Amino acid sequence: MHPKGGERFPRTGALCPRVSVRPKLGWSDEDYSAAADRKLGGSHKICSEFLQWGGTLDGAQVLEVGCGSGIDVLLVGLYPVRSVVGIDLELPLFEPGERGERTRGLAREVLEKRQLRDHVREVLESRPIRFAIMDATLMGFPDDSFDFLWSRAAMLEIMPLEKALTEMARVVRPGGLIYHNIHPYFWIRGCYKTGLVDIPWAHARLSPAEFRRFATESEGEATAIRRCQGLKTLNQFTLRQWRKMIGAGPFEILEWKEDRCSFAERLLEEHPDAKDSLLEGVEPRDLIHGGIKVWLRKKDHRANEDEDVSSVPVDDRSSPKLPVKG
Ligand SMILES: C[S@@+](CC[C@H](N)C(=O)[O-])C[C@H]1O[C@@H](n2cnc3c(N)ncnc32)[C@H](O)[C@@H]1O
Repeated sequence: MHPKGGERFPRTGALCPRVSVRPKLGWSDEDYSAAADRKLGGSHKICSEFLQWGGTLDGAQVLEVGCGSGIDVLLVGLYPVRSVVGIDLELPLFEPGERGERTRGLAREVLEKRQLRDHVREVLESRPIRFAIMDATLMGFPDDSFDFLWSRAAMLEIMPLEKALTEMARVVRPGGLIYHNIHPYFWIRGCYKTGLVDIPWAHARLSPAEFRRFATESEGEATAIRRCQGLKTLNQFTLRQWRKMIGAGPFEILEWKEDRCSFAERLLEEHPDAKDSLLEGVEPRDLIHGGIKVWLRKKDHRANEDEDVSSVPVDDRSSPKLPVKG
């Protein structure tokens, strides 16, 4: 019996199955191909929506925050941008070893599907693409550096978020566009695998102490500690809180889309009692929305002043180098 009822919840990695874009050990060629297709589709969508919102990539200065593999940065670098920069706390594309090799393998697959037989190294050398290990809450760019900033699946992890939002507002020029694809925490998989225990939406229903007690009873103390520590690395915000925080910034919200997940809706029908035992502030809609997609325009308070958009001072030396094998 657990503290919120007694139903057993078949915890499984197959919850809301989708193609992973993070290459794993033992991936087949088909896995790489499917992940590359997903990467290409996602990148194409962001760029075409950017154009629809009136942006132009010709000569643009672009930043991805929390770029992970960096593959989206490579793809944007194929457009005639003035520069594109990817920042993250870690850059697996440049790591020696197995994880780096897998990331470069996916990058190669993506470039091949774009009919670019070039090695990643050649694309990096021939295009105005830069990467830097940099914390989104403390960016080393001058004010108003970028025409376009985007993040995908990173806002859940960037802490403290308020500081990052302030930094993002600072480095984007007035009138510049921002896109965030946010994975909200209280959705069934928003807690990542680390938060999935044998209670549906345990992370949205149990207090930290209850969660830890349940995980300890069912899986032992070491696993419970690992799970609880994992959850602490995620921004535990509701949809309402996301809207409030982003709305408080100097942005015009051009579009705010919350994506419903039909799998989560079905699961909620099977476990209707989940709705009756939610943590304070969490609403049923938080359980079934797997993404927020938001387009913002930085408000232009200086409409009548001369703009001083200087070049992004991330020079060649700040990009890490690929390992020799790359
Ligand atoms: C789930 S991954 C998403 C990566 C990539 N955007 C994608 O779509 O595959 C989240 C990324 O955010 C990065 N991240 C977390 N905190 C950060 C911070 N303070 N500054 C920069 N990046 C951060 C993580 O290192 C990780 O690579």
